[in-house]
Amino acid sequence: MNGEELRERIHREFPDGIYLDWACTSGIKPPGCAEAVYRALCGTTSNINRGAYSKENQAGMNIFLLREQLRLFFDAPEDAVPVFTANVTQALDAAIRGSVGPEDHVIISGLEHHAVTRTLTEIGADYSVIPARQDGSADPEAFEALVRPETKAVVLNHASNISGTVNPVSGIFEKAGRHGLLRILDTAQSAGSLPVSMTKLNTDILCFTGHKGLLGPQGTGGMILTQETADRLKPFLTGGTGSESAVYTMPEFLPDKFEAGTLNLPGLAGLKASLDWIGGQDLRKIHEREMDIAQKFASAAEALPGLSIAGGTDYSGERCPVVSVIFDEAAGDPSDAAARLDEDYGIMTRSGLHCAPLAHKTLGSWPRGTVRFSFGPFTTPEEGRAATEALAQIVNRT
Ligand code: ALA
Repeated sequence: MNGEELRERIHREFPDGIYLDWACTSGIKPPGCAEAVYRALCGTTSNINRGAYSKENQAGMNIFLLREQLRLFFDAPEDAVPVFTANVTQALDAAIRGSVGPEDHVIISGLEHHAVTRTLTEIGADYSVIPARQDGSADPEAFEALVRPETKAVVLNHASNISGTVNPVSGIFEKAGRHGLLRILDTAQSAGSLPVSMTKLNTDILCFTGHKGLLGPQGTGGMILTQETADRLKPFLTGGTGSESAVYTMPEFLPDKFEAGTLNLPGLAGLKASLDWIGGQDLRKIHEREMDIAQKFASAAEALPGLSIAGGTDYSGERCPVVSVIFDEAAGDPSDAAARLDEDYGIMTRSGLHCAPLAHKTLGSWPRGTVRFSFGPFTTPEEGRAATEALAQIVNRT
């Protein structure tokens, strides 16, 4: 099939385009999510924790139920409480800025996002990167040697937003616990895709976003922690909470210690509906389907001249459905390829450095970055095949 015929066929078969940027945000929401946001904005849209009327109690009850739903979803300890923030970046900021000062040292993996590296840089804290294994994941054997007297915390990305590579979190956090370090986990890419157990992963603070694998609206996210852990942190955001109003300092108790200001209640209503939908699915089956599409796509892309896959094409272990394609000089520029995918074929991807320069250095895709294809619960095998064919035409210049 020549270029013109393929372009015409893809546009005919996928008139709304092909969304392959799920690692960035869930481009399609499940049934019930938009309706829940809309309903939250109809009639009297009350706040929580502030007004003296029963409607407020109902809104408060919905948020209480959502906290419990999230606690169970992440298999968090019974006394852990989800605190809401605008996104995972804000949650990581709250966890890191709340616990780390310029005099402290932090240990991180080579797969971290700017949500961690920029934050540590802005704080002025020293950090060490755990040496990586072949696939880019942190080597647990290399952890101990990095611990210093001034080490305060370990921050790990559960799964890379570039390669889907999964860090060996449980083992590293188990070792970190023996040194009394604060263990902070970024589940931006894994939540909703892989099973995430805060308990099994030996995590003190689990940071999550609502708009990626949890399929909720943007502007939702949070961190889950116990009161004991909360006592080790300073509040990051300060202001009114609707509680202890006579006192000029922030309440010490959860979730109020970290929830100054009015929450994004419509967004959280949407997140609750998305979690309800997820609760009715077999997540393991969805993950298998996504990984099947990702693996087939990665193998086909790797066979094309001048292309390789960040983190390699071994999908035998735990991994998320994110495939970043590295272009050598002869194969062309990744940003040009992404523009052609969009303009000529209606295929939506992300190109460049994906806000994670450290991870590109670890994965060998620095400084040009990649074209990232990421697959979600509503991606079909036909869409994966169309992306493979389009990429082949671009690279082969046919
Ligand atoms: N961190 C998100 C991404 O990887 C936004 O695209």
